[in-house]
Amino acid sequence: PHALLAELREQASVHRVGDFWAVLRHAEVRHVLRSPTVFSSHLGGTQVRDPATPEALRYVRRMMLNQDPPEHTRLRGLLTRAFTPRAVARLTERIEGWAREIVGRAAAKGEFDFAKEVADLPLLTLAEVFGVPVEDRGLLFDWSNRVIGYEDTDYAASSAFTGGTDLARAALALRPAPGPDGRMPDPRTRDGMPDLYAYAHGLAERKRRSPGDDVMSALMAGDVSTEEFENLFWLFSVAGNETLRNGIPGGMIALLSTPDAPVDDLGTAVEEMLRWWTPVMNFRRTAAVDTELGGRRIRAGEKVVVWFSSANRDPRVFDRPDVFDPARRPNDHLSFGHGPHFCLGAQLARAQMRAVFGAVAALPGRLVAAGPPLRLRSTFQNGVKSLPVRLAAR
Ligand code: HEM
Repeated sequence: PHALLAELREQASVHRVGDFWAVLRHAEVRHVLRSPTVFSSHLGGTQVRDPATPEALRYVRRMMLNQDPPEHTRLRGLLTRAFTPRAVARLTERIEGWAREIVGRAAAKGEFDFAKEVADLPLLTLAEVFGVPVEDRGLLFDWSNRVIGYEDTDYAASSAFTGGTDLARAALALRPAPGPDGRMPDPRTRDGMPDLYAYAHGLAERKRRSPGDDVMSALMAGDVSTEEFENLFWLFSVAGNETLRNGIPGGMIALLSTPDAPVDDLGTAVEEMLRWWTPVMNFRRTAAVDTELGGRRIRAGEKVVVWFSSANRDPRVFDRPDVFDPARRPNDHLSFGHGPHFCLGAQLARAQMRAVFGAVAALPGRLVAAGPPLRLRSTFQNGVKSLPVRLAAR
């Protein structure tokens, strides 16, 4: 796909594709993202595809991701206070411990699936942030699979989680039953997600009664309502999980692609992994007024899709953009977006990636490919379902 994107990007920054405008160059992508009054997140949601029903649109619009200023600004302000550098630093120590444990245990097997093994790290982190009982984290995994992997039948149909705490069991009792073939009735259950909301509701009630030492208990002691908590829980379960569990193996694929490039500074290398892999390929806005972009006239109501995976390889900004260069600096990639919706979890994501690749570097050998990676079928997430690796001598 990069060759095709490069060809289109050189012809023009903005193209009409199907029922949307595709924005491909770095400058125009940034412009769209920092102009929320012209390019709205709220009018039609932030996914390329419209929500299936008006009710589904109402659901997604309740989330911060799909709000515009000033509503967006209020919620974001509350959360920014909870995600202080101190809170992230406190989590970082725990994250490093988990990463060492996960990577060490996996490597002890000799050969293992890197994508599957490291997927537990974002889940453990989210469970910590939300104060979710750790036994229930498999449920988060299951949900985010169904929300993100809806274009991929393996993911969409999987609903493997059973057990967990009483909170999980109460929520699961509401889950639609699988059909005779064992598959869920409609793979696009992403619109309703009743069990996730039921779980979030139970968790919110519990936290009001007995607040814990987690970020979300602190928020709820403040100005966040139960309904807002449910929306945040939904957003974080997906945003904080699926992105990273694709970003981390993506970073490993980057390292495997240039085994001889030295990694002198882990932080710099992680930024380049994020650029080169681009875990989230695009987000959408809707034009709120008639406007012009990259020489094209865009009318109010039309869909505008910004392609991070193209902007991140724009030769106007990056030298030799297709090369993974772990020492690349500066690195003005757009993998976390830009403007008012800039990824709230960016520091937490970076901390997790640094922890994983720090643990990989500390292994007694080096990881080499043990088979081809299996990619997720998706036009939204640059997903990796499996990445076989093996520990070899240095
Ligand atoms: C927003 C990417 C990890 C929470 C975003 C956006 C992008 C992004 C591109 C902007 C969406 C838009 O403009 O409409 C990523 C990537 C990640 C990652 C590539 C990992 C490599 C995380 C983590 C968390 C998180 C770990 C939470 C713990 C959020 C939230 C928003 C967001 C809450 C919405 C912010 C807002 O609407 O103001 N992310 N993300 N993300 N991300 Fe991330």
